[in-house]
Amino acid sequence: MKVLLINGSPHATGSTYTALHEMEKVFAQEGIETELVQVGNKDVRGCIACGTCGTKGKCVFNDVVNELADKFEQCDGLVVGSPVYYASANATLIAVLDRLFHSSQFDKTMKVGAAVASARRGGLTATFDELNKYFTISGMPVASGQYWNGIHGSNAKDAVQDEEGMQQMRTLARNMSFLMKSIALGKEKYGLPEKEVHAWTNFIR
Ligand SMILES: Cc1cc2nc3c(=O)[nH]c(=O)nc-3n(C[C@H](O)[C@H](O)[C@H](O)COP(=O)(O)O)c2cc1C
Repeated sequence: MKVLLINGSPHATGSTYTALHEMEKVFAQEGIETELVQVGNKDVRGCIACGTCGTKGKCVFNDVVNELADKFEQCDGLVVGSPVYYASANATLIAVLDRLFHSSQFDKTMKVGAAVASARRGGLTATFDELNKYFTISGMPVASGQYWNGIHGSNAKDAVQDEEGMQQMRTLARNMSFLMKSIALGKEKYGLPEKEVHAWTNFIR
């Protein structure tokens, strides 16, 4: 069992990392392997809607997005962490997620997702909502904790002092572990839910 954690911050060991690393410690206790990939420091462009992925099964830009797609496919859970920038996720992370979720063709159903935001003061829940959208359009159950997953602090030194935020990360990781293990058992017993052919309409036809 494995969880992929994506750090959307340009800071390798900032407050977003502090939150994600608190989760990593719990996953280790739960016997769950983790891999953390930092993307917020990378030069990543957005989706150009070329449609190449529809035929090739991967993004036309062969960068960290295609590397993440391979890792994501092998994982049972995905944690996405972002610093809050103007009450939204970091733009680099959004470029990565748009391209990752749009270009990768493998079935994401029942891979568990969790979103984590870090901010000095405001915009945590807006960012949390924004990130959860990627999971809920992909058949991915969302793990939750004891609050809307966020940590306060301008940097790692501040973030560790957010006692409730740090506890929230541990609770989230414990709940996510339980959910992934339960889904693994459920898959064995019942298999994945039946899927209909996706009906694509644009409201009018
Ligand atoms: C461009 C930019 C915009 C930001 N916007 C917000 C904001 O809207 N609300 C907030 O509370 N903090 C804001 N911050 C502060 C960061 O969210 C905060 O320092 C965060 O903890 C950094 O996480 P990191 O250490 O993982 O990079 C902003 C920082 C930058 C650089």
